[in-house]
Amino acid sequence: MMTSAENSKDAGNLTKLYRSDEKNYVEEEELSLDFLSLLETELDIDSSRCYSQENETFFSKNVLRKQRHWEKILAAKKCKRKQEKEKRKAKASENNSQGTIKERHSKRFLKELTMERLLTAKYSGPKLCIDLSMTEHMTKKEISRLAAQIRRLYGSNRKTAKPFWVYLTGFLENSLLYDECVRMNDGFNNYLVDTTESNFLDIFPLEQVVYLTPDSNSALEDIDPQKVYVLGGLVDESIQKKLTYRKAKEHGLQTARLPIQEYMDKKVNSKNFHSEILAINQVFDVLSTYYRTKSWPEALQTGVSSGKGYVLRDNATMETY
Ligand SMILES: C[S@@+](CC[C@H](N)C(=O)[O-])C[C@H]1O[C@@H](n2cnc3c(N)ncnc32)[C@H](O)[C@@H]1O
Repeated sequence: MMTSAENSKDAGNLTKLYRSDEKNYVEEEELSLDFLSLLETELDIDSSRCYSQENETFFSKNVLRKQRHWEKILAAKKCKRKQEKEKRKAKASENNSQGTIKERHSKRFLKELTMERLLTAKYSGPKLCIDLSMTEHMTKKEISRLAAQIRRLYGSNRKTAKPFWVYLTGFLENSLLYDECVRMNDGFNNYLVDTTESNFLDIFPLEQVVYLTPDSNSALEDIDPQKVYVLGGLVDESIQKKLTYRKAKEHGLQTARLPIQEYMDKKVNSKNFHSEILAINQVFDVLSTYYRTKSWPEALQTGVSSGKGYVLRDNATMETY
């Protein structure tokens, strides 16, 4: 059993706890209940120890006064905590809604900026055409992969500060490729590109066309906004060698390959694998980075993955020319 000195020491500690921060709320409440029971105990102890008619009235009055006093403190504390909780809640929801508005603004702003850049490219930027007239050379799986590459290419073009204007030519609406594009590309029908079933040969003046093909004898030196750069819509798992090169030559078109040999070296690897044939989205990343930076080393570094077995030549500088 505790002495009254111990009891009053506990009461002192309790007062300190009441002054402590809110985290101790549960602890405080438990202690305050303890305290009330201590007061009751105190009454028992003292009444058993020094019971008399006059001090009984005095003592019960004293205990009741203390009890009321602590009850008041507890109630005030509880009320304050409630108010603070409400304040915090209101502040959090205000911050939240401000964040959403800001986000919404910046999202809308970015979308408008992207649209503006793409539309500027439509009228004054370089043109990139994906020749989709060769799907008969591909398996179903390759066609699905082509649809995924179109999605990546479009995604890169949306992000860059200096986009190309993209044409999808020879693109038949009733085709597996179309279905795959819609299935794999969110909002495909809203893409800011020109699509047509016509062949690029019937749309662009042939002297403006540069067919990009890994089999060309000429390395691409620069990007001319007056030209149309054509990529063969092909995914070569069963390598169709020189398909686009032959097609371009047949129509007397200018051809060019990426300047990989000019800026990169073959890297020794266990499979002794070296390939200059890139996927269309990788070719596009090279073109797009070059168009933005005017640096072939930087562009090739971006688009030619290490799996192709090439590394930048030691003296190939990353400076912008
Ligand atoms: C996977 S490649 C297809 C290669 C195929 N054997 C061909 O005949 O074009 C897809 C397209 O990306 C472009 N491409 C790929 N690597 C290239 C390179 N090193 N230089 C220029 N164009 C390239 C070409 O337009 C090519 O048709």
